[in-house]
Amino acid sequence: MKLKLKAAILGYGRSGSTMHAGAIQDNADSFEMAAACDVDPARRKEAAQRFNCAVYADYHEMLAKEKLDLVSVITRSDQHCEMTCECLKAGVNVLVTKPWAVNADEGRRMIRTAGETGRLLMPWLPSRWCCVLRRLKELIDAGTIGNVFFIRRSVCSFATRNDWQTENRFGGGYLLNWGPHIVDPPVVLLGSKVASVYGRMKQVINPGDVEDVFFAIMNLQNGAVVQAEFTLSVANLPDWFVQGDRGTIVAYGQDMKIYRKVPPKPDDPTKYSEMRSEEESVSEEKVKGCMYGDSAEIYREIAQALRGEKEYPVKPAHALELSETFDAIRRSDRENRVVVF
Ligand SMILES: NC(=O)c1ccc[n+]([C@@H]2O[C@H](COP(=O)([O-])OP(=O)(O)OC[C@H]3O[C@@H](n4cnc5c(N)ncnc54)[C@H](O)[C@@H]3O)[C@@H](O)[C@H]2O)c1
Repeated sequence: MKLKLKAAILGYGRSGSTMHAGAIQDNADSFEMAAACDVDPARRKEAAQRFNCAVYADYHEMLAKEKLDLVSVITRSDQHCEMTCECLKAGVNVLVTKPWAVNADEGRRMIRTAGETGRLLMPWLPSRWCCVLRRLKELIDAGTIGNVFFIRRSVCSFATRNDWQTENRFGGGYLLNWGPHIVDPPVVLLGSKVASVYGRMKQVINPGDVEDVFFAIMNLQNGAVVQAEFTLSVANLPDWFVQGDRGTIVAYGQDMKIYRKVPPKPDDPTKYSEMRSEEESVSEEKVKGCMYGDSAEIYREIAQALRGEKEYPVKPAHALELSETFDAIRRSDRENRVVVF
């Protein structure tokens, strides 16, 4: 029988106590929840009752007293880099939630520290496991809509929030909060790197001092274009609008519609006449699975990576590229220009 991996959650808040604690529980054959750390006594009590584990208010104390295989850092976004580096320096592997860093410099610092300590640094980008992204990849790889030249990825909401996510000093703002779900997946789907960015950001209805709307147009090295946005609107745009030279795929949530069409040509190019397409079809499907990734599945892969059985699929270099793109979107907005990498 394999020994269980000793896991701890640093930041047992909304996400730590649900998505991550739940996934560790779902993988009870691989993980034992050895400890939880939170500055809030009510959170510590909850973790202790649920897992019968050690609880700490100070993560340095946890690192000194526990022999851990993994710390999942699920605190506020401004805390991730410092805490991750401290855990790595204590000899522990780290899973760090999105956004792993508030800027690319923090990303580079974590990569450097992981290199110096020889520990695993695993960025959490759960939308890479999104069921719709997977289905789109299958369809595109099969050539269903030909060559994809443009993807629009949108998330619309008209909700306000009033917590640390609305403050810059805490790493708030919707680019960092939603960007990992919106900016990253279409770029991954197109399998290319960002070459240049035009971005706009606005604070429309939220309190605080950061954007609650962002918009980015990214030209990729392979010539394809991505438009990615989080926007405030009462009616919804499609989550995905994928345009190929042989059709279009539209997805609202998990409802997908696939339009296939060979570009119409005139019957006789010398005369004005009706344009005909040789082939045309429309099909609909409901994609099964999790929109923001199945956390239990991701933790299964984390366990495999910790045991050296399989590499964790999201490399720190991927997360760094995303941070560089976020930095470029901000810079483009500030300087009102296209930022070229
Ligand atoms: N889909 C996703 O992957 C997803 C979803 C939600 C949140 N998140 C990310 O998770 C992170 C946390 O978000 P949340 O909504 O759970 O926030 P939260 O405020 O509910 O949780 C943060 C927790 O950290 C604790 N904390 C603060 N300072 C601490 C310290 N010094 N030591 C120990 N604990 C400390 C707080 O008491 C709180 O319980 C954010 O970075 C957010 O972007 C990811």
